Amino acid sequence: MGGSHSRILHRSLRADLPTATHGSGPYLFDQAGRRYLDASGGAAVSCLGHSHLAVIEAVVNQIKSLPFAHTSFFTSEPAERLADFLMARAPRGLSRAAFVSGGSEAVETAIKLSRQYWLERGQPSRAWIVSRRLSFHGNTLGALSVGGHLARRERYLPYLLDKVEFISPCYAYRDRREGEPDEAYGLRAANELEAAIDRLQPDNVAAFIAEPIGGATAGCLMPAPGYFTRIREICDRTGVLFIADEIMCGMGRTGTLFACEQEGVAPDLVAIAKGLAAGYQPLGGVLVSDAIVRAIENGSGMLGTGHTYMGHAVACAAALAVQLAIEEEHLLDNVRRMGALLERRLRDRFGSHPHVGDIRGRGLFWALELVEDRATKKPFDPGLELYRRVKREALRQGLICYPSGGAFDGTCGDHILLAPPYIIDESHIEELVRLLSIGLDAALASLQQPAAARAGRKRPG
Ligand SMILES: Cc1ncc(COP(=O)(O)O)c(C=O)c1O
Repeated sequence: MGGSHSRILHRSLRADLPTATHGSGPYLFDQAGRRYLDASGGAAVSCLGHSHLAVIEAVVNQIKSLPFAHTSFFTSEPAERLADFLMARAPRGLSRAAFVSGGSEAVETAIKLSRQYWLERGQPSRAWIVSRRLSFHGNTLGALSVGGHLARRERYLPYLLDKVEFISPCYAYRDRREGEPDEAYGLRAANELEAAIDRLQPDNVAAFIAEPIGGATAGCLMPAPGYFTRIREICDRTGVLFIADEIMCGMGRTGTLFACEQEGVAPDLVAIAKGLAAGYQPLGGVLVSDAIVRAIENGSGMLGTGHTYMGHAVACAAALAVQLAIEEEHLLDNVRRMGALLERRLRDRFGSHPHVGDIRGRGLFWALELVEDRATKKPFDPGLELYRRVKREALRQGLICYPSGGAFDGTCGDHILLAPPYIIDESHIEELVRLLSIGLDAALASLQQPAAARAGRKRPG
């Protein structure tokens, strides 16, 4: 299904999508009975796999008792308990949570709260947002405006916000100079924020937004040591708010509940989604510092933004059950243990692969950057759409991974993102690496075939 017979406007109007029917642990199954190891949780979503009974029960029980009550009239127990749970574990200074329906809404809310904070403080000139190239913060127009994914932005440029300034990401593989120590590189990259704020003048800048580990655009871009410490210092000196977008890298994905914990910094706002409710329900959230809460409380007393499905009781019940399961089943220990094994196995298998330029990540969040030439780091011709071939060939092998284009400059460059569920064991890792290796080599081999032969290939039955 999913081809020309479907009445759904699918993401691709050419793809013939299999119909997913059910899941079991880290596996998904389709109508034809094929099994897929979900090694990317779709797009870093399904962190508990696909059949967690306690989460399913929590959803069913919540729907039976209270499916929905609008948040302008009521609060709900699951939303309150989820907020309590997260705030008890959040980085210092954060004190309240707002729940929305997904990542893009979370980023929109974080941007609007930053703006509202400065209005409540009587500084209306603070409007600019500083972001990083090769970032991704969502596809709604506000979130897209502050994202640095060129290909996703391009069509909508006439509608995007203009008060957004971009600096370089922290991208050691491409930007660290020969012989430059990691710390010096991190400092140099972070100082671009200071230069941008000085250029715009601090009184005009509302916030800086960054993914602690860059996800979708360039694949697990890791902060250099000290990078975020310096970012925090710059934000403190200039008053600029620091928004951490942990939608992909947060909620345990890197081995700690919040990715920024391992950088030793506390943001002013943290956007979360994906692993928060692990795909059992759609949910995003923004955690907000006490200073911002106080400014609003002592000022207008009202949030300037809202959505119909804010704080949805069933979605919050699912997220609470997910977070309790992660804690009670000690799954972050497993993320760290299996993450270390995954790293070793990726380095063993791909460390000297002629077309794998870089292997980077943390916890169960890893990426391979693909290059035509390891010595020069030259990316593949984007016209070859290597990342799409990898996705297709991996799927043919029964492996779901998340390859994307744009890692080099936003339009060319290919990488493969891996984000397997926190419940995986050694055997799943062996299977993942084996299937990925076959899929990658098949995709590379397909580059050698004439176009007509490639078009004639079909999915095996
Ligand atoms: C870092 C980051 N921010 C925001 C988003 C947008 O989230 P959503 O697709 O739930 O709107 C994504 C989605 O991939 C993301 O990776």
